[in-house]
Amino acid sequence: MSEKIVIYPGFFDPITNGHLSIVNRALKIFDKLIIAILKNPQKTALFSIEERICMIEESVGKQPNVEVDTFDGLLVDYAIKKGSNVVLRGLRALSDFEYEFQMALMNRKLNHDVQSIFLMTDYKWFYTSSTIIKEAASFGGDISGLVPEGVNRKLKEKFQESKKT
Ligand code: PNS
Repeated sequence: MSEKIVIYPGFFDPITNGHLSIVNRALKIFDKLIIAILKNPQKTALFSIEERICMIEESVGKQPNVEVDTFDGLLVDYAIKKGSNVVLRGLRALSDFEYEFQMALMNRKLNHDVQSIFLMTDYKWFYTSSTIIKEAASFGGDISGLVPEGVNRKLKEKFQESKKT
């Protein structure tokens, strides 16, 4: 049987414990997982692509069945290029549903062979997102336990840097 590869796309600006929960769950189902960071010049990110890759690699640790990559253009085209027909997204609260539903149906319209699947994060991270974590961190809020230690450090450094300038 051929290797079952799943694509886990997103901005990961930065990776959170919610994302890691999805990664760990998916690894129980799939042979290989590709964390795919969208290179989107239109959306401003706090961390550069290189910083995001570095934080993901450090957080996930060395695992032969996990690849960290970047993509641009259509997700479904990228999935096919990587030998996959499955796109994985995490679901938290009901509020995610509308956006995810829209994206899954658009992806299906673009390529009928690519399936979207959803896994729920652990309830501990139901209310968190990269955006809300960045906001709390920018005002000096305690975000420990919501992101990996290395990411927490990088967030502190980033916001200290921006205060100096
Ligand atoms: O972390 P995010 O913002 O939830 O990730 C969104 C992402 C990167 C999965 C989505 O914007 C995407 O797949 N973009 C690629 C362009 C594409 O294929 N668009 C058509 C389907 S919406």
